This record gives sequence, structure tokens and C-alpha cells, in this order.
Amino acid sequence: METLIINGGNALRGSVEINGAKNAAVAILPAAVLASNQKCIIDNIPDIEDVHCLERILAGLGCTVNKINNNTLEIDATDITTVNACTEDVRRMRASYYFIGSLLARFKKARVELPGGCPIGVRPIDQHIKGFEALGAKVTIEHGAVSVEADELHGASIFFDVVSVGATINVMIAATMAEGTTTLENVAKEPHVVDVANFLNTMGADIKGAGTDVIRIKGVESLTGCNYSVIPDQIEAGTFMIAAAATKGDVTITNVIPKHLESISAKLIEVGAIVEEGDDSIRVTVDKPLKGVNVKTAPYPGFPTDVQQPMSTLLSITEGRSLIVESIWENRHKHTDELKKMGAVIKVEGRTAIIDGVESLTGCRVRATDLRAGAAMVIAGLIANGETEIVDIEHIDRGYPHIENKFRALGADIRREDR
Ligand code: EPU
Repeated sequence: METLIINGGNALRGSVEINGAKNAAVAILPAAVLASNQKCIIDNIPDIEDVHCLERILAGLGCTVNKINNNTLEIDATDITTVNACTEDVRRMRASYYFIGSLLARFKKARVELPGGCPIGVRPIDQHIKGFEALGAKVTIEHGAVSVEADELHGASIFFDVVSVGATINVMIAATMAEGTTTLENVAKEPHVVDVANFLNTMGADIKGAGTDVIRIKGVESLTGCNYSVIPDQIEAGTFMIAAAATKGDVTITNVIPKHLESISAKLIEVGAIVEEGDDSIRVTVDKPLKGVNVKTAPYPGFPTDVQQPMSTLLSITEGRSLIVESIWENRHKHTDELKKMGAVIKVEGRTAIIDGVESLTGCRVRATDLRAGAAMVIAGLIANGETEIVDIEHIDRGYPHIENKFRALGADIRREDR
């Protein structure tokens, strides 16, 4: 079993380059099946397990997938042979549900097994289904798979009941070639939603308003392949910013869009860290004791739920009491049990974690209970006294490219071992 072994105590110093955004890439790759002619060459793709899973799913559908290098993929979806995506890879990950939207848009038909993903709460897809049905598709769920079918798709006005990244992207993809205009309201505004819209527009789609509350999509006849580069990962950047503050280090995080990181920067400044923005970099340093703060997660531009768990590690060693209210997922405090094993003082009441800062954490064997929980445990290991062993790290590999190499380059004592 692979584990991460960390000997804590080293302040992180130096510079780290952020990879392409996982949650943009995992939607852009399924959307590549929309191209009925010409290849898509997609750059700045993170080298993570979720992407490898999508490469296999694309190949299984009949796409030619050519890895130009670790971060660039060439996808030829011209000769797709099946609209059936029912494999272990599809079941394993969340983003496989974007194949429902993309296959529906291009072939008016798809059968895709229900998606998996991190165990962070109930993860319904009712808003995706509501959108597909409004566009004219018949949707059935049988034997653990979603089947969609339509004679033709037509534009519609859809008001989402909850702000959902997945539903916004999936229905936007499905509507690209629907007859007429589709209006999506109460949509997610995350940077990766905008990135997917930009990718679709580069393929020839006509999408306006991504990044605002209303997205308008004028259906086009067909989409073609294109060259595209994925935006930098807001969450990976936030994780390194928090790790820099937690270890009282001095880290410059490069290849970022500082605007996407404003809510994280603001919280770190409130904690007492120094955050300096460059054009495409952010430097985080610490020159005084850090203090507890309250955090409430919210859809973009609010504080991202995906950075909440790493933040809880930082707040476990800041002075005083902090509250973290998780408003997106009902079960995203499970990692606090692992932090408690390391000496953190945390009480969870419903969606709120009440954290009383302690002087220090101590290393021990802990689990990565999900992807971002894994990042939280890595940061805990970096600041703890003694050795921390993190197990179940396949969760971390799903979303963080080469995490141990990046932290080691910043001076951390971290290695991967088969134990
Ligand atoms: N929701 C519904 N019905 C739906 C869809 C969502 O009620 O049809 C609810 C969810 O239960 C949740 C809220 O709406 O309470 C938001 O869910 P959303 O659809 O936005 O989440 P998602 O698309 O499943 C993506 C990211 C998550 C991230 C959330 C929120 C991907 C592959 N996943 O999930 O990322 O936490 O948006 O920003 O893009 C991660 O990267 O670690 C991760 C979990």
C-alpha cells in the first residue's frame, strides 16, 4: 500500500508552479466528444488520476487519445463508436457525468453509469436531469445508469433550484447544439465554469454570460476540434498558499490567476499572513503569530468548499477559536477526526467545525478520507512534530499532481513509500 511519510517542522520556502485546473479539465475532456471533425489539442491538463480515468473512458467510446506529453492531450472524437459509458472508471469518478451532456448534445442519446466521487455528502443529479428534460430529452435511471434520449433538443429557459457547478456545466454542454436559445439562471460562476464555456466557444459554440448569474447559449449546427489551454487550478494554488502560512514559510506560487484566489487571500490576511499579489503569482509569508478566524464556504466568489479542509489544518494551530461553516456539502468535516488524532482540538456540530487552536500537532498514522481531506493531512504532516504516515492516498492522487515532489522542492521532508 502506498503511503506518504512526512517528517514535519520544515518551513516551506521557494517557488511552486501550479498546474491546470482539475475541475475544468475533467469537464473539458468529456466535452471534447462534441467535436465531429478535427482533433482537440488540450494543454495545461493536470497529470492526475481523474484525468487518466477520463482518457480511458474516451478511448472506450472510440476516441483516439494521444498523450503528447504529461500535460497535453490530443483527442480525436470523429469516429466515436458507442454512446454507452458503463465501466468501472465511469463509476469511480464524479466528472464522468459530463459524458451525459456531451453525448446527448452530439448523438441525442447516451447511457452513462451513475458517477462516484468523494464521499462528502449526498450528491444528487436532479438539477442536471431537470436541465436535460427541459431541452427535450427523456431521462431514465435504470440498473444504476442514466439513459438520455431525444429526437431533437430545443432551447429552453432553465432556473436551477440550487447553484451547482456540475449541473451548470452539464446543461451548458448539452445545449450547445440545441435548436434555438437556452437561458440558464441561478448558475455557478466558478472560474472552471467560465473555462469550459471558453473551450466550447473555441470549438464554435455561442455561449455568453459564463461567470455571471445568467448564461445564454445559442445552438449551433456542429462543433469542431480546437487548441485550448486549461486555466490554472484555484484549489491547488489555495492549498499551497495555506501550506505556506501553516509552516510559517515564504512561498511564491506561480502560474495562478490572483483574482480567482481573492477569497483565500483575504482569509489568510485575516489570519495574519502576508499575501502579495503579482500578475500571475502570489507570495505568502508569515512574520507574526497567526490568529483564528471564522470561515463560511460559499459558491464562487465565496470561500471555496474545496479549500475548507486544508484551511481547517491551519486553523488548528492558530491562536484562539475558529469556526468553519460548510454550506455546500453536509459531510465535509470527516477529516477532523484524523486531525484530532494529531492533537487538534475540534468539535463538529452539524455543518460547523469549532476549532480551538493548539500550540502544535504531533505526527501519527492518519487517513486521507477524501481528496481535499488528503491535502489537509499533508499540511498537518508538514507542521507536526515527528513522523506522519498518510494512508489511502489514492484520493490525493485523484486531484493533486505529484504532490510530494512539489512539497519536497519547497523544502519539505516528504516521501512516498510502499509500506
Ligand atoms: N446539488 C443538488 N442537485 C444537483 C447537483 C448538485 O442538489 O443536481 C447540490 C449538491 O448536493 C451540493 C450543491 O448542490 O450541495 C453543490 O454541488 P455541485 O453540483 O456544485 O457540485 P459538483 O459539481 O458535484 C463540483 C466539484 C467539487 C466541488 C463542488 C462545489 C467537480 C468534478 N467537482 O462538484 O469538487 O466541491 O463543485 O464547488 O467539478 C473537489 O474537487 O474536491 C470537489 C469535490
